[in-house]
Amino acid sequence: MMARKILIDCDPGTDDAIALFMALGDPRLDVRLVTVAGGNVGLAHTLRNARALVGLTGKAVPVVAGAERPLLGSFEDAAYVHGEDGLAGVLLPEGPAAASGIAADAIREALRAAGPAGLTLVGIGPATNLALALATEPGLLPNVAEIVLMTGAWGEGNVTPAAEFNAWSDPEALAVVLGCGRPVTLATLEVTAQALATPSRIEALSRGGTGACREAACAILAGTPPSRRLGGAGSPQHDSCAIAWLLAPEAFTVREVFAEVDCGPGPGRGQTLIDRWGRLGKPANALVLETLEAGRFFEVLEQSLSRLP
Ligand code: RIB
Ligand code: CA
Repeated sequence: MMARKILIDCDPGTDDAIALFMALGDPRLDVRLVTVAGGNVGLAHTLRNARALVGLTGKAVPVVAGAERPLLGSFEDAAYVHGEDGLAGVLLPEGPAAASGIAADAIREALRAAGPAGLTLVGIGPATNLALALATEPGLLPNVAEIVLMTGAWGEGNVTPAAEFNAWSDPEALAVVLGCGRPVTLATLEVTAQALATPSRIEALSRGGTGACREAACAILAGTPPSRRLGGAGSPQHDSCAIAWLLAPEAFTVREVFAEVDCGPGPGRGQTLIDRWGRLGKPANALVLETLEAGRFFEVLEQSLSRLP
């Protein structure tokens, strides 16, 4: 079966790192491009981290720098979760140089080259780069097969009571992507909470084999503080859920929903309003991932790590 062509827009970020390993370690995904934004930490760090992570896998995938800040509003990082360097203090060898150009242009070129429904966009950071690409050249939208975003929550947020970090970081960009008319799949905090990296699961991954990527992944997982919001049992692997959807859709249950994001200035800014029960009577514009078989998720991660150097 032909590998599925994807690009990954990210802000590494400890959980972004695991998502990159999961994707780059599975031959069913053909990662054409990795684009980077500021998010968990500033762009200087997220770009260095993305280059180092891709470099560690040995895969010849171009890494292109993008937005340092959101479309509107100010930039605020999440270094309190990911560490000042963005990878929980885990030092990796310098990766290959970033490819020239900027992310929004590289995304458009990748879409142009992919042809009709030829490329899946995976967004696991603030959606700024994706929004800029799609808004700049809407004629390329038919080449988008699917957009899979780790973003939002139908309940409590993780950066404000109302908002999840990626949605909160650039709600206007998320609104552009939600409104683009192409299939959008949402991995929200509710499903990512079911992919909890507990000490026993990290230990199992560590025992699963050897290799620089596995060692880096386990060190990053072990260095990530457990989530207080989830009772301190482990760290939710947010971004990998977007990749796992592409690799093991059978591990999820889903629901078609109408979803929108609050772009107002108030305490609800960045809140994703996800209408799971159709109360608003508006046509569905997204698929939300609701449940996840955690055992299958960690099997997929184990398989990817076993294929990486
Ligand atoms: O809220 C979790 C999301 O914000 C993840 O993508 C994490 O990496 C941060 O970017
Ligand atoms: Ca991220």
